[in-house]
Amino acid sequence: MQRLSRRAVLIGGLGLGAGALTACSTRGGRGSGSAALGPVSAATPSPGQTVVEKSLSAKPTTIDLGGPKVATWAYGDTLPGPLIRATAGDFLRLTLDNQLPDDTSIHWHGIRLHNAADGVPGMTQDPVKPGQKFVYEFTAPDPGTYFFHPHVGVQLDRGLYAPLIIDDPREPGGYDAEWVVVLDDWVDGTGRTPDEVLKQLIAAGGSASPSSSGGMGGMGGMGGMDHGAMGSSTGAQPWGDAGDVTYPHFLLNGKVPAAPETFAAKPGQKVRLRIINAASDTIFTVALGGHKMTITHTDGHPVVPQEVSALYMGMGERYDAIVTLGEGVFPLVARPFAKTSGGQALGLIRTGAGTAPGPDITPAELGGQVLIGSQLQPAESAKLPAKSPDATVQLNLEGSMQPYHWAINGAPFGKNTPLTVKAGQRLRINVMNMTMMTHPLHLHGHTFALPSGLRKDTVLLGPMEQLPIDLDADNAGKWAVHCHNIYHAEAGMMIGLNYVS
Ligand code: C2O
Ligand code: CU
Repeated sequence: MQRLSRRAVLIGGLGLGAGALTACSTRGGRGSGSAALGPVSAATPSPGQTVVEKSLSAKPTTIDLGGPKVATWAYGDTLPGPLIRATAGDFLRLTLDNQLPDDTSIHWHGIRLHNAADGVPGMTQDPVKPGQKFVYEFTAPDPGTYFFHPHVGVQLDRGLYAPLIIDDPREPGGYDAEWVVVLDDWVDGTGRTPDEVLKQLIAAGGSASPSSSGGMGGMGGMGGMDHGAMGSSTGAQPWGDAGDVTYPHFLLNGKVPAAPETFAAKPGQKVRLRIINAASDTIFTVALGGHKMTITHTDGHPVVPQEVSALYMGMGERYDAIVTLGEGVFPLVARPFAKTSGGQALGLIRTGAGTAPGPDITPAELGGQVLIGSQLQPAESAKLPAKSPDATVQLNLEGSMQPYHWAINGAPFGKNTPLTVKAGQRLRINVMNMTMMTHPLHLHGHTFALPSGLRKDTVLLGPMEQLPIDLDADNAGKWAVHCHNIYHAEAGMMIGLNYVS
């Protein structure tokens, strides 16, 4: 996985206005992904703890993407849904009001919370039925850039996602503005729903029984080869054939590139970008025209600051970057990796006069080296204490496009055997991607360390890549581990991680 490669593209933005973000608190938040990540706190607030409350209505609505109007499901009437913001150590009480014609739930992606608030029906709660409410109560222990989405079916590929930002009470800030940038691939309401997309993927894969193990495991039935021209013309390194779905639109903060969100600032100002890939099936290459970006965090955890021209972002990953702005109008581009239709996602940063670049702009930065996030180095404070693993388990990502089967360890979720761990162990998960596609692997309830010490909760594994990841088993419960391609996850590329005594 050690390649900085050529193709690139990507963007992001969600303007939250300027202003120093120097929160203060005497609570002693557990802080910046430090090695001393504290215990996950309970389901009730402690005396003196700040409580942040919010209600979210999941409902059918019509969204204007900046031209195209689409019927979809969203949290309220905006896309992305409403930002939730708190300070590390705060207690969150978030009420989901299900006005959808379907079961739903909310998963707080990346947050180390107690098991009952994790939002995975069948593992941590019953599904929230139409007309019902469910209250999620948890402490957000660690600062960082997160988001939330349902954990039911392929609902993530509708409009059901929104950013969740946890501020660091100990961070000095040191920038003039902060913009949240949420990237997405969009199909809902354009002639087919995500549920129909999944049905079509399964139908196109042939009629083999989903319980058959043919094509799984080992090297058989590699998905990547079946995409024909799309894969071969634009796939290549490092991610091979990276997606299954053809999308008509790519969005930055809910808008198509013809009507981009515009962020205003002054030349010379320093801006923190918090970029979230909320897409279901799309790896983006992100670049800001005319600028280098200094990556400071990934998945909430601080890294040794790294200047890049462009970076790859897998589904479910987050990156924070600092940029010092020049004068003019600049494109923030998120270009879908290995997809040849649907254009790209775009935002604009305006600090002066000038003509806005068009929707198809290709910033020079996309043609240079592109950072592969797993090559970042961890900040000292983000490292796990040195320790050799107490236990090791194998996790094989398996499957194929034809038939459309995805699995972990020999069988789809529900038929595979959950991984187990004992509280207190340092667990090594030996992840092996046995397919010719790239998969963003996501772990609930914990963060893990790569061999470099880099701390993440979602990591891209390229075709046939092997990667050991280590975690400290400090959060008892039943947790999901899965590919964050929502179609792969729903087709079975998921497994449990259960605490046992
Ligand atoms: Cu964002 Cu289980 O996922
Ligand atoms: Cu996958």
